[in-house]
Amino acid sequence: MGILGRYGDFFPLTPRTPRLDLGEGSTPLVPLRALGEELGVDLWGKFEGANPTGSFKDRGMVLAVSKAMEEGARGVICASTGNTSASAAAYAACGGLSCTVLLPSGNVAKGKVAQALIYGATVAAVRGNFDRALELARAMAERRGYRIVNSVNPFRLRGQMSGAFEICDQLGDAPDWLAIPVGNAGNVTAYWAGFVAYMRRRRSSRVPVMMGFQAQGACPMVTGQFTDHPETVATAIRIGRPVNARRARWAVMMSGGAFEAVEDREILRAQMDLARCGLFAEPASCTPLAGLRKLAREGRLPRGIRVVMVLTGNGLKDVETPLRSAGSVVELEDSLETLEGVIP
Ligand code: F0G
Repeated sequence: MGILGRYGDFFPLTPRTPRLDLGEGSTPLVPLRALGEELGVDLWGKFEGANPTGSFKDRGMVLAVSKAMEEGARGVICASTGNTSASAAAYAACGGLSCTVLLPSGNVAKGKVAQALIYGATVAAVRGNFDRALELARAMAERRGYRIVNSVNPFRLRGQMSGAFEICDQLGDAPDWLAIPVGNAGNVTAYWAGFVAYMRRRRSSRVPVMMGFQAQGACPMVTGQFTDHPETVATAIRIGRPVNARRARWAVMMSGGAFEAVEDREILRAQMDLARCGLFAEPASCTPLAGLRKLAREGRLPRGIRVVMVLTGNGLKDVETPLRSAGSVVELEDSLETLEGVIP
């Protein structure tokens, strides 16, 4: 059962709200003992790549599209670095709505483009970055009466709160720290709201410190300065003007946390190390591990605390990056002898 069925009492559902359901949520929370030992903490990874379209976006999209249907919208529209568009296209298909997605041309992982297309969305690549695509999407939504399903849509963040609920249910309570990638800054805001709501209803007893991680080349939450030229290998969070910046800053401050930036090469190393634990996450999702390592190096990671990293998206969406960085396939004659020569 998806999140509308499992956590419906936290959402603004009415008798007329269609209950879309692709079985989103219920993602694995995996103990990462070896990496945790290295860092001196009790480390866990929430594998959001196990959602129906391979990212956490499904948690917000199922509610946003259900509400768009209830309100009689003609269709949905979004700008996206890839995952939002894949998710919007899938839930629109599920609900029988039209879907239009605007992508920053040349900077979206191919698997995500393929998803939007196969689910039947109209896909446009904008010659500009994500922030510009979002401006266009907002303007077109107004003109056409489409519902915008980026994280400016309040139902998106409401649905994404369910990630926090699940972590509390899986661990028995909130962790000490939540480590999460930050792009448009919606998810960090949603998780904080989720932890607070769960505690208020006495389904958990505390809230975590929120640690938000960005890539060095696209880190407006760290520098406090928006940028028009974000650049990073983690294309999902290649964003210079996060629309939820103000609320995210407030959430992280209330929690006693901080925003930190990490280098692309640290992100790629973290991706490899998570894969060697059996978790293939896309580059953006690996910023928390890279960031925790940086904090440990600088003596800023308290020892022995329980930390959950949100591994936001599936590595299979972006296979070109690891194919460049993770070694190569051995070509072989068809014989046992040559095989002997290459296996360990
Ligand atoms: N991780 C992944 C895999 C993402 O796709 C995104 C955002 C984030 C982290 C950051 O989340 O924006 O709420 O701070 N992707 C959006 C998209 C921008 O269009 O798919 P955020």
